Amino acid sequence: MNTTLLNVKLPQPEAIKYQVNIGTELIKKIPSLLGTLTPVARYIIITDTMMNNIYGTAIINIFKKADLQADIITFPAGEKNKTEATHRKLTHKMLQKKCGRDTMIIALGGGVVGDTAGYVAATYMRGIPYINIPTSFLAMVDSSIGGKVGVDTKFGKNLIGAFWHPEAVIVDIDYLKKLPQTQLVNGLMESIKIFLTYNKEMLEMVENNWKKVLKKDLSLLQKIIARSIELKIGVVTRDEHEANERMVVNWGHTIGHAIEHLSNFSFGHGYCVGYGILVESKIAELMGVLSIEDFEKVCEMMHGFGITKKALKDILKKFSIQAIVKQTLIDKKARNGKVKYVLLEKIGSVKTTKGMFGHEIDKNMVKKALTYFTK
Ligand SMILES: NC(=O)c1ccc[n+]([C@@H]2O[C@H](COP(=O)([O-])OP(=O)(O)OC[C@H]3O[C@@H](n4cnc5c(N)ncnc54)[C@H](O)[C@@H]3O)[C@@H](O)[C@H]2O)c1
Ligand SMILES: [Zn+2]
Repeated sequence: MNTTLLNVKLPQPEAIKYQVNIGTELIKKIPSLLGTLTPVARYIIITDTMMNNIYGTAIINIFKKADLQADIITFPAGEKNKTEATHRKLTHKMLQKKCGRDTMIIALGGGVVGDTAGYVAATYMRGIPYINIPTSFLAMVDSSIGGKVGVDTKFGKNLIGAFWHPEAVIVDIDYLKKLPQTQLVNGLMESIKIFLTYNKEMLEMVENNWKKVLKKDLSLLQKIIARSIELKIGVVTRDEHEANERMVVNWGHTIGHAIEHLSNFSFGHGYCVGYGILVESKIAELMGVLSIEDFEKVCEMMHGFGITKKALKDILKKFSIQAIVKQTLIDKKARNGKVKYVLLEKIGSVKTTKGMFGHEIDKNMVKKALTYFTK
């Protein structure tokens, strides 16, 4: 399979530029890639315990063979550990190892590792370089792109963090071979989200090839990954700091994050986004923005992808609608107590009003949309 090379080039004042390499057998080529980046004295590979068990020895051997000084530091896998405490522990481990500013962090893992290790890089001695090697499908298509790093708090998700871009992103498709099926579907939700809002053709391609996707047809997955990344790079280039358009990649997330938080992170992020997509599509339909036919089509598609109205109904039995709405108000996207939602207008595009992508929605409308799924 050919390697796809995509460029991230953000406008001034930051003038940030880095490459996203997408292909197979890329990990072996890390030493030569590192040679093209900021020269450093040593590398710290940050990964979770699960990934360390499978891939830790292999990656450290690649560094050793190339005579590069590298150490691995780990933290327990799972969203529950994407915390300030983990950030502190990792930072302290690096301080104990006497890592200076001439250290580069290598984030190896899913979105939890990328977000946490990226945040360590952003804050360690006021910021050191890092590269991101996303290994879950979700991290490949979404979280490794765009420079948002951070941790969760007891008040809500991703409430502490920074914009800190990696020097390179290496998407080695081979990592998908050992990724559990549920994690694949979890990650596919982020691709489905970006295709639903930006690219109808890709969405239909995924729908028509769903069985092959689930069987991990690697060339098909590479196409989905490359297109998802390309779309996200486009959004981030136009609006890095989420002043406007970047809100679109958070479509489905206002409700999704609330469910994720209330479930105490027992549901995967992507699945929560999937349920968020159902509810936020209903909001658009109730607002008269999305046609009933397209809303039904979204529900039907999502059903095919394993996100059913029945499962959402069961979730809503567990958490009160009141609690979900309350949680959305604490979400970082809430301004003056009102939450801005992105509204799907058609399959493949969202509504803008005077160029603005976010629309303030009354909480009663959100309640109404949630109530629809309880019946
Ligand atoms: N920064 C952003 O812009 C952004 C965007 C989207 C999502 N996110 C964040 O991403 C996180 C979710 O990421 P995730 O779904 O990757 O979760 P995760 O990092 O917890 O990974 C899921 C599980 O899969 C395992 N795993 C990862 N790669 C594997 C592989 N190749 N083989 C076998 N097992 C593997 C991990 O060890 C973990 O147990 C959330 O915290 C979410 O907020 C961030
Ligand atoms: Zn997400």
